[in-house]
Amino acid sequence: MTESSVATAAPSAVIVLAAGAGTRMKSKTPKILHRIGGRSLIGHALAAAAGLAPQQLVAVVRHQRDLVAEHILSLAEDLGTTPVIADQDEVPGTGRAVQCGLEALLTAPGGTAPDAGPAGSAATFGTVVVTYGDVPLLTTELLAELVATHEADGNAVTVLSALLEDPTGYGRILRDADGSVAGIVEHKDATQAQKDINEVNSGIYAFDGDMLATALAEVTTDNAQGEMYLTDVLSIARAAGGRVAAVTTQDRWQVEGANDRVQLAQLGAEMNRRTIERHQRAGTTVQDPATTWIDSTVTLEPDTTILPNTHLQGTTHVSEDAVVGPDTTLVDTTVGAGATVTRTQATGAVIGAGAAVGPFTYIRPGTVLGEQGKIGAFYETKNAVIGRGSKLSHLGYAGDAEIGEYTNIGCGNITANYDGVNKHRTVIGDHVRTSSNTVFIAPVTVGDGAYTGAGAVVRKDVPAGALALTVAPQRNAEGWTEERRPGSPAAEAAARARSARAANAAQAQDAPDDGS
Ligand code: UD1
Ligand code: CA
Repeated sequence: MTESSVATAAPSAVIVLAAGAGTRMKSKTPKILHRIGGRSLIGHALAAAAGLAPQQLVAVVRHQRDLVAEHILSLAEDLGTTPVIADQDEVPGTGRAVQCGLEALLTAPGGTAPDAGPAGSAATFGTVVVTYGDVPLLTTELLAELVATHEADGNAVTVLSALLEDPTGYGRILRDADGSVAGIVEHKDATQAQKDINEVNSGIYAFDGDMLATALAEVTTDNAQGEMYLTDVLSIARAAGGRVAAVTTQDRWQVEGANDRVQLAQLGAEMNRRTIERHQRAGTTVQDPATTWIDSTVTLEPDTTILPNTHLQGTTHVSEDAVVGPDTTLVDTTVGAGATVTRTQATGAVIGAGAAVGPFTYIRPGTVLGEQGKIGAFYETKNAVIGRGSKLSHLGYAGDAEIGEYTNIGCGNITANYDGVNKHRTVIGDHVRTSSNTVFIAPVTVGDGAYTGAGAVVRKDVPAGALALTVAPQRNAEGWTEERRPGSPAAEAAARARSARAANAAQAQDAPDDGS
Protein backbone atom coordinates (compact mmCIF):
# COMPACT_ATOMS: atom_id res chain seq x y z
CA MET A 1 0.00 0.00 0.00
CA THR A 2 1.16 3.49 -0.79
CA GLU A 3 0.13 6.71 0.90
CA SER A 4 -1.38 8.00 -2.32
CA SER A 5 -3.89 5.14 -2.55
CA VAL A 6 -5.26 6.28 0.81
CA ALA A 7 -5.62 9.78 -0.53
CA THR A 8 -7.26 8.80 -3.83
CA ALA A 9 -9.80 6.41 -2.36
CA ALA A 10 -12.38 8.74 -0.85
CA PRO A 11 -15.76 6.98 -0.86
CA SER A 12 -18.98 8.95 -0.73
CA ALA A 13 -19.91 7.29 2.55
CA VAL A 14 -18.77 4.80 5.16
CA ILE A 15 -21.54 3.12 7.14
CA VAL A 16 -20.37 1.60 10.44
CA LEU A 17 -22.79 -0.96 11.87
CA ALA A 18 -23.17 -0.63 15.63
CA ALA A 19 -26.76 -1.61 16.45
CA GLY A 20 -26.07 -5.08 17.86
CA ALA A 21 -26.49 -5.98 21.53
CA GLY A 22 -23.17 -7.73 22.13
CA THR A 23 -24.71 -10.01 24.77
CA ARG A 24 -21.62 -12.24 25.06
CA MET A 25 -19.74 -9.43 26.77
CA LYS A 26 -22.03 -9.98 29.79
CA SER A 27 -21.85 -6.27 30.46
CA LYS A 28 -24.11 -3.36 31.29
CA THR A 29 -21.84 -1.33 29.02
CA PRO A 30 -22.62 -1.67 25.30
CA LYS A 31 -19.97 -3.86 23.66
CA ILE A 32 -18.69 -1.21 21.28
CA LEU A 33 -18.01 1.14 24.21
CA HIS A 34 -15.54 -1.29 25.74
CA ARG A 35 -12.00 -0.05 25.30
CA ILE A 36 -8.65 -1.32 24.08
CA GLY A 37 -5.57 0.65 23.15
CA GLY A 38 -6.95 3.95 24.41
CA ARG A 39 -10.15 4.05 22.41
CA SER A 40 -13.57 2.40 22.47
CA LEU A 41 -14.09 -0.34 19.88
CA ILE A 42 -16.37 2.01 17.94
CA GLY A 43 -13.74 4.74 18.31
CA HIS A 44 -11.18 2.56 16.51
CA ALA A 45 -13.70 1.59 13.83
CA LEU A 46 -14.69 5.21 13.20
CA ALA A 47 -11.06 6.37 13.19
CA ALA A 48 -10.18 3.82 10.49
CA ALA A 49 -13.26 4.87 8.50
CA ALA A 50 -12.59 8.60 8.92
CA GLY A 51 -9.08 8.00 7.55
CA LEU A 52 -10.68 7.41 4.14
CA ALA A 53 -12.01 10.99 4.27
CA PRO A 54 -15.52 9.97 3.16
CA GLN A 55 -18.04 12.67 2.38
CA GLN A 56 -20.27 11.18 5.07
CA LEU A 57 -19.55 8.93 8.01
CA VAL A 58 -22.61 7.10 9.34
CA ALA A 59 -23.01 4.99 12.47
CA VAL A 60 -26.08 2.76 12.71
CA VAL A 61 -27.28 2.37 16.31
CA ARG A 62 -30.11 0.72 18.24
CA HIS A 63 -28.98 -1.16 21.38
CA GLN A 64 -28.58 1.41 24.23
CA ARG A 65 -29.03 3.99 21.53
CA ASP A 66 -28.66 7.19 23.54
CA LEU A 67 -25.50 6.11 25.33
CA VAL A 68 -23.90 4.90 22.09
CA ALA A 69 -24.96 7.96 20.08
CA GLU A 70 -23.67 10.33 22.75
CA HIS A 71 -20.31 8.56 22.78
CA ILE A 72 -20.03 8.59 18.98
CA LEU A 73 -20.81 12.31 18.81
CA SER A 74 -18.22 12.98 21.51
CA LEU A 75 -15.59 11.62 19.11
CA ALA A 76 -16.30 14.25 16.45
CA GLU A 77 -13.31 16.46 17.27
CA ASP A 78 -10.94 13.48 17.34
CA LEU A 79 -12.32 12.21 14.03
CA GLY A 80 -12.30 15.58 12.32
CA THR A 81 -15.90 15.00 11.24
CA THR A 82 -19.28 14.65 12.93
CA PRO A 83 -20.74 11.21 12.24
CA VAL A 84 -24.37 10.94 11.17
CA ILE A 85 -26.32 8.82 13.66
CA ALA A 86 -28.76 6.44 11.94
CA ASP A 87 -31.37 4.60 14.00
CA GLN A 88 -32.16 1.04 13.03
CA ASP A 89 -35.80 0.03 13.55
CA GLU A 90 -37.14 -3.28 14.84
CA VAL A 91 -36.41 -5.14 11.59
CA PRO A 92 -33.29 -7.19 12.40
CA GLY A 93 -30.23 -7.90 10.34
CA THR A 94 -27.21 -6.31 8.74
CA GLY A 95 -29.18 -5.62 5.55
CA ARG A 96 -31.74 -3.58 7.44
CA ALA A 97 -28.95 -1.79 9.33
CA VAL A 98 -27.36 -0.64 6.06
CA GLN A 99 -30.75 0.36 4.65
CA CYS A 100 -31.32 2.56 7.71
CA GLY A 101 -27.84 4.01 7.21
CA LEU A 102 -28.60 4.94 3.61
CA GLU A 103 -31.92 6.51 4.61
CA ALA A 104 -30.18 8.62 7.24
CA LEU A 105 -27.73 9.82 4.60
CA LEU A 106 -30.62 11.13 2.53
CA THR A 107 -32.16 12.98 5.46
CA ALA A 108 -28.96 14.04 7.26
CA PRO A 109 -28.36 17.75 7.94
CA GLY A 110 -27.77 19.16 4.49
CA GLY A 111 -30.69 17.04 3.37
CA THR A 112 -29.07 15.21 0.46
CA ALA A 113 -27.04 12.15 -0.20
CA PRO A 114 -23.39 12.50 -1.04
CA ASP A 115 -22.98 13.35 -4.71
CA ALA A 116 -26.65 14.28 -4.91
CA GLY A 117 -27.76 15.30 -8.35
CA PRO A 118 -29.36 18.64 -9.21
CA ALA A 119 -32.39 19.63 -7.14
CA GLY A 120 -35.35 17.42 -7.92
CA SER A 121 -33.32 14.58 -9.44
CA ALA A 122 -32.85 11.25 -7.70
CA ALA A 123 -29.97 11.20 -5.27
CA THR A 124 -26.89 9.35 -6.49
CA PHE A 125 -24.55 7.53 -4.18
CA GLY A 126 -20.96 6.86 -5.14
CA THR A 127 -18.94 4.12 -3.47
CA VAL A 128 -20.38 3.16 -0.08
CA VAL A 129 -18.18 1.24 2.37
CA VAL A 130 -19.73 -0.87 5.13
CA THR A 131 -17.75 -1.86 8.24
CA TYR A 132 -18.51 -3.03 11.80
CA GLY A 133 -18.19 -1.08 15.02
CA ASP A 134 -16.67 -4.05 16.86
CA VAL A 135 -13.68 -4.73 14.54
CA PRO A 136 -10.98 -2.57 16.09
CA LEU A 137 -7.79 -3.59 14.28
CA LEU A 138 -9.03 -2.78 10.78
CA THR A 139 -6.84 -0.08 9.26
CA THR A 140 -7.53 2.77 6.90
CA GLU A 141 -4.87 1.26 4.60
CA LEU A 142 -6.76 -2.02 4.16
CA LEU A 143 -10.06 -0.18 3.63
CA ALA A 144 -8.36 2.00 1.03
CA GLU A 145 -7.03 -1.06 -0.76
CA LEU A 146 -10.57 -2.46 -0.83
CA VAL A 147 -11.98 0.78 -2.26
CA ALA A 148 -9.16 1.14 -4.79
CA THR A 149 -9.71 -2.40 -6.12
CA HIS A 150 -13.47 -1.90 -6.12
CA GLU A 151 -13.27 1.28 -8.19
CA ALA A 152 -10.44 0.19 -10.49
CA ASP A 153 -12.32 -2.99 -11.44
CA GLY A 154 -15.72 -1.28 -11.73
CA ASN A 155 -17.31 -3.73 -9.29
CA ALA A 156 -20.86 -3.63 -8.00
CA VAL A 157 -19.68 -5.22 -4.73
CA THR A 158 -16.21 -5.96 -3.40
CA VAL A 159 -16.16 -7.98 -0.19
CA LEU A 160 -13.18 -8.27 2.12
CA SER A 161 -12.63 -11.97 2.78
CA ALA A 162 -10.19 -13.95 4.91
CA LEU A 163 -9.03 -17.57 5.01
CA LEU A 164 -9.60 -19.05 8.46
CA GLU A 165 -8.55 -22.45 9.83
CA ASP A 166 -11.79 -22.52 11.80
CA PRO A 167 -14.50 -20.69 9.84
CA THR A 168 -17.30 -21.73 12.23
CA GLY A 169 -20.00 -19.09 12.60
CA TYR A 170 -18.94 -16.92 9.69
CA GLY A 171 -20.65 -16.45 6.36
CA ARG A 172 -18.81 -18.42 3.63
CA ILE A 173 -17.74 -16.99 0.28
CA LEU A 174 -19.26 -19.02 -2.56
CA ARG A 175 -17.21 -19.08 -5.75
CA ASP A 176 -18.05 -20.39 -9.22
CA ALA A 177 -15.92 -22.93 -11.00
CA ASP A 178 -14.02 -20.05 -12.64
CA GLY A 179 -13.25 -18.63 -9.19
CA SER A 180 -15.53 -15.61 -9.43
CA VAL A 181 -17.57 -14.72 -6.33
CA ALA A 182 -21.17 -15.95 -6.63
CA GLY A 183 -22.47 -14.99 -3.21
CA ILE A 184 -22.29 -15.54 0.54
CA VAL A 185 -24.10 -18.16 2.60
CA GLU A 186 -24.51 -17.73 6.35
CA HIS A 187 -23.21 -20.54 8.57
CA LYS A 188 -26.71 -21.26 9.88
CA ASP A 189 -28.07 -21.57 6.33
CA ALA A 190 -25.12 -23.50 4.86
CA THR A 191 -25.02 -27.09 3.61
CA GLN A 192 -22.25 -29.33 4.97
CA ALA A 193 -20.27 -28.85 1.75
CA GLN A 194 -20.56 -25.05 2.14
CA LYS A 195 -19.47 -25.28 5.76
CA ASP A 196 -16.23 -26.89 4.56
CA ILE A 197 -15.32 -23.63 2.76
CA ASN A 198 -12.75 -21.72 4.81
CA GLU A 199 -12.90 -18.41 2.96
CA VAL A 200 -15.13 -16.25 5.16
CA ASN A 201 -16.98 -12.98 4.85
CA SER A 202 -15.41 -10.33 7.09
CA GLY A 203 -18.57 -8.24 6.88
CA ILE A 204 -16.59 -5.38 5.36
CA TYR A 205 -17.48 -4.30 1.83
CA ALA A 206 -17.29 -1.61 -0.82
CA PHE A 207 -20.54 -1.19 -2.75
CA ASP A 208 -21.79 0.77 -5.69
CA GLY A 209 -24.20 2.80 -3.55
CA ASP A 210 -27.07 2.99 -6.01
CA MET A 211 -26.90 -0.74 -6.68
CA LEU A 212 -26.84 -1.29 -2.90
CA ALA A 213 -30.01 0.76 -2.34
CA THR A 214 -31.81 -1.05 -5.18
CA ALA A 215 -30.71 -4.53 -4.10
CA LEU A 216 -31.61 -3.97 -0.43
CA ALA A 217 -35.20 -3.35 -1.51
CA GLU A 218 -35.26 -6.97 -2.68
CA VAL A 219 -33.73 -8.51 0.46
CA THR A 220 -36.19 -10.48 2.60
CA THR A 221 -36.08 -12.08 6.05
CA ASP A 222 -36.66 -15.54 4.58
CA ASN A 223 -33.72 -17.37 6.21
CA ALA A 224 -32.71 -19.39 9.26
CA GLN A 225 -32.42 -16.29 11.47
CA GLY A 226 -35.40 -14.33 10.15
CA GLU A 227 -33.10 -11.33 9.47
CA MET A 228 -32.46 -9.09 6.49
CA TYR A 229 -29.03 -10.32 5.42
CA LEU A 230 -26.73 -7.74 3.84
CA THR A 231 -24.92 -10.73 2.34
CA ASP A 232 -27.89 -11.39 0.04
CA VAL A 233 -26.95 -8.22 -1.86
CA LEU A 234 -24.05 -10.07 -3.52
CA SER A 235 -26.16 -12.64 -5.35
CA ILE A 236 -28.80 -10.01 -6.17
CA ALA A 237 -26.12 -7.75 -7.69
CA ARG A 238 -24.73 -10.63 -9.69
CA ALA A 239 -28.13 -11.65 -11.02
CA ALA A 240 -28.58 -8.04 -12.16
CA GLY A 241 -25.35 -8.28 -14.14
CA GLY A 242 -23.00 -6.52 -11.70
CA ARG A 243 -19.40 -7.56 -11.05
CA VAL A 244 -18.92 -9.10 -7.61
CA ALA A 245 -15.40 -9.71 -6.33
CA ALA A 246 -13.40 -10.30 -3.16
CA VAL A 247 -10.21 -8.82 -1.77
CA THR A 248 -8.69 -11.49 0.46
CA THR A 249 -6.59 -10.33 3.37
CA GLN A 250 -3.83 -12.46 4.91
CA ASP A 251 -4.11 -10.44 8.11
CA ARG A 252 -6.94 -12.10 10.03
CA TRP A 253 -6.59 -9.69 12.98
CA GLN A 254 -7.88 -6.85 10.83
CA VAL A 255 -11.23 -8.53 10.31
CA GLU A 256 -11.65 -10.02 13.78
CA GLY A 257 -14.46 -8.77 15.99
CA ALA A 258 -14.54 -8.66 19.76
CA ASN A 259 -17.52 -10.76 20.79
CA ASP A 260 -16.58 -11.55 24.38
CA ARG A 261 -14.02 -10.42 26.93
CA VAL A 262 -11.56 -13.13 25.94
CA GLN A 263 -11.44 -11.79 22.39
CA LEU A 264 -11.38 -8.24 23.73
CA ALA A 265 -8.14 -8.98 25.61
CA GLN A 266 -6.63 -10.84 22.64
CA LEU A 267 -7.38 -7.95 20.30
CA GLY A 268 -6.06 -5.50 22.89
CA ALA A 269 -2.78 -7.40 23.18
CA GLU A 270 -2.37 -7.62 19.41
CA MET A 271 -3.15 -3.94 18.99
CA ASN A 272 -0.54 -3.13 21.63
CA ARG A 273 2.02 -5.37 19.90
CA ARG A 274 1.39 -3.54 16.61
CA THR A 275 1.54 -0.12 18.24
CA ILE A 276 4.86 -0.92 19.94
CA GLU A 277 6.33 -2.36 16.75
CA ARG A 278 5.34 0.82 14.89
CA HIS A 279 7.17 2.94 17.47
CA GLN A 280 10.21 0.65 17.48
CA ARG A 281 10.48 0.95 13.69
CA ALA A 282 10.22 4.72 14.06
CA GLY A 283 13.11 4.90 16.53
CA THR A 284 11.84 4.19 20.05
CA THR A 285 13.64 1.66 22.26
CA VAL A 286 11.08 -0.49 24.07
CA GLN A 287 13.07 -2.76 26.33
CA ASP A 288 10.26 -5.16 27.19
CA PRO A 289 7.28 -5.05 24.80
CA ALA A 290 5.54 -7.76 26.82
CA THR A 291 5.07 -5.48 29.85
CA THR A 292 4.74 -2.18 27.99
CA TRP A 293 1.28 -0.88 27.07
CA ILE A 294 0.97 2.05 24.71
CA ASP A 295 -2.36 3.48 23.58
CA SER A 296 -2.75 3.96 19.85
CA THR A 297 -3.30 7.67 20.53
CA VAL A 298 0.15 8.20 22.11
CA THR A 299 2.95 9.93 20.17
CA LEU A 300 6.66 9.23 20.65
CA GLU A 301 9.62 10.96 19.06
CA PRO A 302 12.62 9.01 17.77
CA ASP A 303 15.34 8.17 20.32
CA THR A 304 12.95 7.80 23.22
CA THR A 305 13.40 4.90 25.64
CA ILE A 306 10.53 3.10 27.34
CA LEU A 307 11.51 0.77 30.20
CA PRO A 308 9.54 -2.25 31.47
CA ASN A 309 6.11 -2.11 33.09
CA THR A 310 5.28 1.24 31.60
CA HIS A 311 1.80 2.32 30.46
CA LEU A 312 1.48 5.33 28.16
CA GLN A 313 -2.09 6.46 27.71
CA GLY A 314 -4.35 9.01 26.06
CA THR A 315 -2.65 12.01 24.50
CA THR A 316 0.70 11.32 26.15
CA HIS A 317 3.69 12.56 24.14
CA VAL A 318 7.33 11.71 24.83
CA SER A 319 10.07 13.87 23.29
CA GLU A 320 13.45 12.73 22.03
CA ASP A 321 16.10 11.37 24.39
CA ALA A 322 13.58 11.09 27.22
CA VAL A 323 13.58 7.91 29.28
CA VAL A 324 10.28 6.73 30.79
CA GLY A 325 10.00 3.86 33.27
CA PRO A 326 10.32 1.37 34.68
CA ASP A 327 6.97 0.98 36.46
CA THR A 328 5.47 4.22 35.21
CA THR A 329 1.96 5.19 34.08
CA LEU A 330 1.55 8.41 32.12
CA VAL A 331 -1.93 9.62 31.15
CA ASP A 332 -2.34 12.69 28.90
CA THR A 333 1.16 13.78 29.89
CA THR A 334 3.86 15.50 27.85
CA VAL A 335 7.48 14.61 28.57
CA GLY A 336 10.14 17.05 27.34
CA ALA A 337 13.35 16.19 25.53
CA GLY A 338 15.91 14.37 27.63
CA ALA A 339 13.69 14.17 30.71
CA THR A 340 13.66 11.07 32.92
CA VAL A 341 10.48 9.77 34.54
CA THR A 342 10.98 6.81 36.88
CA ARG A 343 8.40 4.80 38.84
CA THR A 344 5.83 7.57 38.49
CA GLN A 345 2.07 7.91 38.09
CA ALA A 346 1.24 11.10 36.19
CA THR A 347 -1.98 12.47 34.71
CA GLY A 348 -2.49 15.69 32.77
CA ALA A 349 1.04 16.95 33.38
CA VAL A 350 3.77 18.69 31.42
CA ILE A 351 7.31 17.64 32.31
CA GLY A 352 9.96 20.01 30.95
CA ALA A 353 13.06 19.22 28.92
CA GLY A 354 15.84 17.71 30.99
CA ALA A 355 13.65 17.44 34.07
CA ALA A 356 13.72 14.47 36.44
CA VAL A 357 10.68 12.88 38.07
CA GLY A 358 10.60 9.96 40.50
CA PRO A 359 11.01 7.44 41.85
CA PHE A 360 7.65 6.90 43.60
CA THR A 361 6.08 10.17 42.52
CA TYR A 362 2.41 10.99 42.06
CA ILE A 363 1.80 13.79 39.59
CA ARG A 364 -1.80 14.98 39.29
CA PRO A 365 -3.48 17.18 36.66
CA GLY A 366 -2.21 20.71 36.18
CA THR A 367 1.36 19.97 37.15
CA VAL A 368 3.84 21.81 34.94
CA LEU A 369 7.49 21.14 35.72
CA GLY A 370 9.97 23.53 34.11
CA GLU A 371 13.13 22.64 32.23
CA GLN A 372 15.79 20.95 34.36
CA GLY A 373 13.36 20.85 37.27
CA LYS A 374 12.97 17.96 39.67
CA ILE A 375 10.10 16.33 41.55
CA GLY A 376 11.65 13.58 43.62
CA ALA A 377 10.77 10.61 45.72
CA PHE A 378 7.45 10.39 47.54
CA TYR A 379 6.15 13.70 46.25
CA GLU A 380 2.58 14.46 45.25
CA THR A 381 1.75 17.48 43.10
CA LYS A 382 -1.48 18.94 41.71
CA ASN A 383 -2.10 22.24 39.88
CA ALA A 384 1.51 23.12 40.55
CA VAL A 385 3.47 25.25 38.11
CA ILE A 386 7.15 24.83 38.89
CA GLY A 387 9.75 27.02 37.22
CA ARG A 388 12.95 26.14 35.41
CA GLY A 389 15.60 24.44 37.54
CA SER A 390 13.49 24.31 40.69
CA LYS A 391 13.65 21.19 42.81
CA LEU A 392 11.16 19.47 45.09
CA SER A 393 13.39 16.55 45.92
CA HIS A 394 11.95 14.61 48.82
CA LEU A 395 8.73 13.78 50.63
CA GLY A 396 6.06 16.38 50.26
CA TYR A 397 2.93 17.82 48.70
CA ALA A 398 2.63 20.78 46.36
CA GLY A 399 -0.95 21.61 45.40
CA ASP A 400 -2.38 24.83 43.91
CA ALA A 401 1.13 26.21 43.94
CA GLU A 402 3.26 28.43 41.76
CA ILE A 403 6.99 28.09 42.29
CA GLY A 404 9.52 30.32 40.52
CA GLU A 405 12.88 29.45 38.96
CA TYR A 406 15.89 27.81 40.65
CA THR A 407 14.07 27.46 43.94
CA ASN A 408 14.89 24.60 46.28
CA ILE A 409 12.04 23.21 48.31
CA GLY A 410 13.39 21.30 51.33
CA CYS A 411 12.52 17.82 52.48
CA GLY A 412 8.99 17.28 53.75
CA ASN A 413 7.45 20.60 52.67
CA ILE A 414 3.68 20.82 52.43
CA THR A 415 1.38 23.35 50.82
CA ALA A 416 -1.70 23.37 53.05
CA ASN A 417 -4.03 24.42 50.25
CA TYR A 418 -7.38 23.38 51.69
CA ASP A 419 -9.06 25.05 54.64
CA GLY A 420 -11.86 22.52 54.70
CA VAL A 421 -14.05 24.64 52.46
CA ASN A 422 -11.95 26.28 49.76
CA LYS A 423 -8.64 25.70 47.98
CA HIS A 424 -6.03 28.45 48.14
CA ARG A 425 -2.80 29.16 46.29
CA THR A 426 0.78 29.20 47.49
CA VAL A 427 3.08 31.44 45.46
CA ILE A 428 6.83 31.03 45.94
CA GLY A 429 9.38 33.18 44.08
CA ASP A 430 12.72 32.55 42.36
CA HIS A 431 15.88 31.31 44.14
CA VAL A 432 13.97 30.59 47.35
CA ARG A 433 15.45 28.07 49.86
CA THR A 434 13.00 26.39 52.22
CA SER A 435 14.16 24.23 55.11
CA SER A 436 12.84 20.82 56.02
CA ASN A 437 9.23 20.49 57.13
CA THR A 438 8.09 23.92 56.09
CA VAL A 439 4.30 24.15 55.89
CA PHE A 440 2.76 26.88 53.72
CA ILE A 441 -0.72 27.83 54.96
CA ALA A 442 -2.32 29.10 51.75
CA PRO A 443 -3.08 31.68 50.57
CA VAL A 444 0.47 32.81 51.13
CA THR A 445 3.30 34.34 49.10
CA VAL A 446 7.05 33.92 49.56
CA GLY A 447 9.25 36.53 47.85
CA ASP A 448 12.32 35.95 45.67
CA GLY A 449 15.46 34.84 47.47
CA ALA A 450 13.67 34.25 50.78
CA TYR A 451 14.54 31.43 53.21
CA THR A 452 12.48 29.52 55.75
CA GLY A 453 13.74 27.90 58.94
CA ALA A 454 13.24 24.20 59.67
CA GLY A 455 9.71 23.36 60.71
CA ALA A 456 8.40 26.80 59.80
CA VAL A 457 4.64 27.14 59.58
CA VAL A 458 4.33 30.00 57.10
CA ARG A 459 0.99 31.76 57.67
CA LYS A 460 2.02 35.27 56.62
CA ASP A 461 3.68 36.42 53.42
CA VAL A 462 7.48 36.33 53.48
CA PRO A 463 9.11 39.39 51.86
CA ALA A 464 11.85 38.89 49.29
CA GLY A 465 15.18 38.14 50.94
CA ALA A 466 13.74 37.49 54.43
CA LEU A 467 14.26 34.42 56.62
CA ALA A 468 10.96 33.19 58.04
CA LEU A 469 11.28 31.62 61.51
CA THR A 470 8.15 30.47 63.29
CA VAL A 471 9.43 27.79 65.65
CA ALA A 472 9.82 28.90 69.32
CA PRO A 473 13.42 28.89 70.67
CA GLN A 474 14.30 25.52 72.24
CA ARG A 475 14.26 25.25 76.09
CA ASN A 476 15.66 22.10 77.80
CA ALA A 477 14.08 21.08 81.12
CA GLU A 478 17.10 19.44 82.81
CA GLY A 479 16.51 16.21 84.75
CA TRP A 480 12.92 15.93 83.51
CA THR A 481 12.97 12.21 82.72
CA GLU A 482 14.30 10.99 86.07
CA GLU A 483 11.91 13.30 87.90
CA ARG A 484 8.76 12.58 85.89
CA ARG A 485 9.37 9.01 84.65
CA PRO A 486 11.13 7.42 87.63
CA GLY A 487 11.95 3.72 87.22
CA SER A 488 11.42 3.72 83.48
CA PRO A 489 14.16 2.39 81.17
CA ALA A 490 14.50 5.97 79.89
CA ALA A 491 15.05 7.26 83.45
CA GLU A 492 17.59 4.50 84.11
CA ALA A 493 19.47 5.38 80.89
CA ALA A 494 19.37 9.05 81.90
CA ALA A 495 20.72 8.16 85.37
CA ARG A 496 23.62 6.16 83.88
CA ALA A 497 24.47 9.07 81.57
CA ARG A 498 24.35 11.45 84.61
CA SER A 499 26.74 9.28 86.69
CA ALA A 500 29.14 8.93 83.74
CA ARG A 501 29.10 12.71 83.32
CA ALA A 502 29.79 13.20 87.06
CA ALA A 503 32.66 10.65 87.02
CA ASN A 504 34.23 12.36 84.02
CA ALA A 505 33.99 15.74 85.75
CA ALA A 506 35.63 14.37 89.00
CA GLN A 507 38.48 12.77 87.03
CA ALA A 508 39.08 16.08 85.23
CA GLN A 509 39.35 17.82 88.65
CA ASP A 510 41.83 15.19 90.08
CA ALA A 511 44.12 15.43 87.09
CA PRO A 512 47.46 17.22 87.88
CA ASP A 513 47.40 20.85 86.91
CA ASP A 514 50.36 21.35 84.62
CA GLY A 515 49.48 24.84 83.55
CA SER A 516 50.26 27.10 86.56
C1 UD1 B 1 -22.17 -11.19 9.84
C2 UD1 B 1 -22.30 -11.64 8.38
C3 UD1 B 1 -21.41 -12.85 8.14
C4 UD1 B 1 -19.99 -12.49 8.47
C5 UD1 B 1 -19.88 -11.97 9.89
C6 UD1 B 1 -18.50 -11.45 10.16
C7 UD1 B 1 -24.57 -11.10 7.69
C8 UD1 B 1 -25.93 -11.61 7.43
N1 UD1 B 1 -23.68 -11.97 8.12
O1 UD1 B 1 -22.62 -12.27 10.64
O2 UD1 B 1 -21.51 -13.25 6.78
O3 UD1 B 1 -19.14 -13.62 8.30
O4 UD1 B 1 -20.80 -10.89 10.09
O5 UD1 B 1 -18.39 -11.10 11.50
O6 UD1 B 1 -24.30 -9.93 7.46
N2 UD1 B 1 -25.60 -5.32 13.31
C9 UD1 B 1 -26.46 -4.25 13.25
N3 UD1 B 1 -27.79 -4.47 13.15
C10 UD1 B 1 -28.31 -5.73 13.10
C11 UD1 B 1 -27.42 -6.82 13.15
C12 UD1 B 1 -26.08 -6.59 13.25
O7 UD1 B 1 -26.03 -3.10 13.30
O8 UD1 B 1 -29.53 -5.85 13.01
C13 UD1 B 1 -24.18 -5.07 13.44
C14 UD1 B 1 -23.62 -5.63 14.73
O9 UD1 B 1 -23.63 -4.65 15.74
C15 UD1 B 1 -22.20 -6.01 14.34
C16 UD1 B 1 -22.33 -6.36 12.87
O10 UD1 B 1 -23.52 -5.76 12.41
O11 UD1 B 1 -21.31 -4.94 14.45
C17 UD1 B 1 -22.36 -7.84 12.63
O12 UD1 B 1 -23.43 -8.40 13.33
P1 UD1 B 1 -23.41 -9.89 13.82
O13 UD1 B 1 -24.70 -10.22 14.43
O14 UD1 B 1 -22.18 -10.12 14.62
O15 UD1 B 1 -23.28 -10.64 12.41
P2 UD1 B 1 -23.05 -12.15 12.20
O16 UD1 B 1 -24.34 -12.86 12.31
O17 UD1 B 1 -21.92 -12.60 13.04
CA1 CA C 1 -20.15 -11.16 14.71
